[in-house]
Amino acid sequence: MKILVTGGLGYIGSHTVVELQQKGFEVVIVDDCSNTSEDVLYGIVRITGIQPQFERFDLRKKEKVQGFFQRHQDIQGIIHFAASKAVGESVERPLLYYENNLGSLIYLLQEMTQQQDATFIFSSSCTVYGQAEKLPITEDAPTKPAESPYGNTKKISEDILRDTCKANTHLRSISLRYFNPIGAHPSSEIGELPIGVPQNLVPFITQTAAGVREELSVFGNDYPTADGTCIRDYIHVVDLAKAHVVALQRILQGKAESNYEVYNLGTGKGSSVLEVIQRFERVSGQELPYKIVARREGDVVAAYADTTKANDVLGWKTVSSLDEALLSAWNWEKKVRNL
Ligand code: WQD
Repeated sequence: MKILVTGGLGYIGSHTVVELQQKGFEVVIVDDCSNTSEDVLYGIVRITGIQPQFERFDLRKKEKVQGFFQRHQDIQGIIHFAASKAVGESVERPLLYYENNLGSLIYLLQEMTQQQDATFIFSSSCTVYGQAEKLPITEDAPTKPAESPYGNTKKISEDILRDTCKANTHLRSISLRYFNPIGAHPSSEIGELPIGVPQNLVPFITQTAAGVREELSVFGNDYPTADGTCIRDYIHVVDLAKAHVVALQRILQGKAESNYEVYNLGTGKGSSVLEVIQRFERVSGQELPYKIVARREGDVVAAYADTTKANDVLGWKTVSSLDEALLSAWNWEKKVRNL
């Protein structure tokens, strides 16, 4: 069973390739390496011993996408990760985000809808909910106007997918709305590789602990939460990767109740920024220098998943704790920095 993983050398993509291979799937990776390195391929092989096929090209090039599908007539499914994903950058360069994130999706769907049976797993995000009225957040919570062009591309992508599935009943798709992915594979052979200054909390924490950054800036402690800092649902990237395999198998085994489904992927537990810092200090034994600064534009106060549908319908749930995820992130950082 041959599966195309776009963005398969990226953070979540690479962890998903490992899980797919370990479940016996044959994997073809397409990645333009604009936000990763080909070395990730060797990390995957060191874990599974299996060399995935890899093609490096830009999915915004329609003729390249067409050529790929001419060479690979036996693709049974796609897990689509490839996208630009820096919230701040998307505000400065919206057209790059709309062209890349929507263009690549459209070209892939144009190919997939020409196939008899097509299976498409889409990497979406809880960002589509904005600040949800009710917590924990269920899949039928209303989506909100996006806080950033990045978030808007996720919303629009889901609409494109939903409409395409409606018009092509042989296309079966699942959108997976991630909460906050963190951590690294327990082998420390693959992990998060932020290019430049990390935008996200946990890689900034591990780089600070490694001495790469001077101190962490905590973006506001005047929110209406117990300790004043924002709350998020931090999910171990390996748990998240496993959910993609479960979703793919659900469709391939004909268990999906409709040809378009949506699932929230989180632990169901919210943790504040200060809680994450305290837990990191405990699991790593490292004191973390930080200062409180002004709020960051666009941050929601709190977001954590209602996991009922993922647990009861998809048949998946997280098994790793926040401590395990933070320790795996720290072990990966030490490996990368030769500490
Ligand atoms: C988490 C909390 C910050 C950095 C984003 C995207 C989402 C997904 C995950 C791609 C917030 C605080 C952060 C720092 C801080 N990305 N923080 N100091 O914003 O919840 O989600 O990344 O799919 O779509 O929106 O994650 O890790 O950036 O922030 O205080 O240096 O940590 O204010 O409360 P976020 P994050």
